[in-house]
Amino acid sequence: MSKDIKEIGVAVLGFGTVGAGVVETLLENGDLLERRLGVRLALRAVADLDITTDRGVVVPEGLLTTDGAAALARPDVDVVVELIGGTGIAKKFILQALAAGKTVVTANKKLLAEHGAELLAAADAGGADLLFEASVGGGIPIIKALREGLCANRIESIYGILNGTCNYILTRMEEEKLPFDTVLKAAQAAGYAEAEPSLDIDGHDTAHKAAVLATLAYGQIVPLGKVRTAGIRGMDAADIAYAAEMGYRIKLLAIVRRGPDGVEASVQPTLVAHSHQLAAVSGVFNAVQVRGDVVGTTLYYGRGAGRAATASAVVADIADAALALRAGVRHRPLPAGAAAAGDAGGALRFCPPEAIRSRYYLRFAMLDRPGTLARVATVLGNHGIGIDSVIQHEAAPDAEYVPVILVTSAARAGELDAALAEIAAADGAVQGDAVAYRIEDFE
Ligand code: HSE
Repeated sequence: MSKDIKEIGVAVLGFGTVGAGVVETLLENGDLLERRLGVRLALRAVADLDITTDRGVVVPEGLLTTDGAAALARPDVDVVVELIGGTGIAKKFILQALAAGKTVVTANKKLLAEHGAELLAAADAGGADLLFEASVGGGIPIIKALREGLCANRIESIYGILNGTCNYILTRMEEEKLPFDTVLKAAQAAGYAEAEPSLDIDGHDTAHKAAVLATLAYGQIVPLGKVRTAGIRGMDAADIAYAAEMGYRIKLLAIVRRGPDGVEASVQPTLVAHSHQLAAVSGVFNAVQVRGDVVGTTLYYGRGAGRAATASAVVADIADAALALRAGVRHRPLPAGAAAAGDAGGALRFCPPEAIRSRYYLRFAMLDRPGTLARVATVLGNHGIGIDSVIQHEAAPDAEYVPVILVTSAARAGELDAALAEIAAADGAVQGDAVAYRIEDFE
């Protein structure tokens, strides 16, 4: 039942980079949006503790405020856009808005990944919508693709390059043969990487996004603890070069897929064959490959971060909210229960992180003495791990330890961890911990 609504009131909480982009888009493309939607998106308030810094956008008189709670509570505000970030005041404001029955639009993947169940319950209790297109893949409409475009499908797999900072660092390391620390510092100077970069380079940001995608794909909250997570901190340029020699590029890859042991979710540096489309995704760009049982393989590509790209996704959510409010319906809620995974009802079965199977790239600093390789291979073999190939270049005659690369056959992560621990403890056979990266063969 369509309502005769001419305007939808919007409050933007958080006037940082993305907030400013959203305000700018609403102001500059307001007429276009009105023609497309048949309803005006009316900016009623922009709240931030700092309303004096120049954000490069002129906010109409009287809209800027430092009082976020008052802004979201205004009776003429229907849609609350949370762009504050973090899990403190942002969560409080979102819960208040949902309790008041207002649609919430957020880009906050950390909050969704850590408190998604609570937020969705609050949305249900308030009879309100919670939209989060900008939380994954920046401007790429991947949430809409999963919720709407692919809703006829059982999702078989999702492979994502979801962190622009990491992809930028890996790309420059490979192309310019630079060490990790040099590129990280350059990325920080260029404003791509945060001063405190651990959320990105240790894989957590990608894990948050993987959890959001997995939840959408399988209709049930996927806890972060189920996502096996490793980042790219301290990656050695030597491994990028060895991978290239074998025909691979290293990407920080999120993998979510249904297998015989349940749904697996992981974020790890992963060797991707040069010939695969995801290997061609370079710099700050993101890409997601989704395979559905009906549609087959689909691919989504674009800017995963930044003011304009993220604003594009946020405003798309505001537009969806406006249409739903005008129609007097809630937006499409999350599919409930494991039925969405294609299971016969009941709880979704997760593959324990240690049971995830893949091939691995291993690099050891191995004692250059006859029999060492055999000892290492024996330990791997005792854990059921075969060896597909070996690379050892001639080293200096006086080298005590030399780099040896092993490519394993498919192994369970837990078995690999156990084998590597045993090898590290084997008296003098190897120096330090082995480097272990996943190799993804895709379907
Ligand atoms: N820090 C993220 C990235 C962007 O580097 O891709 C925000 O999700």
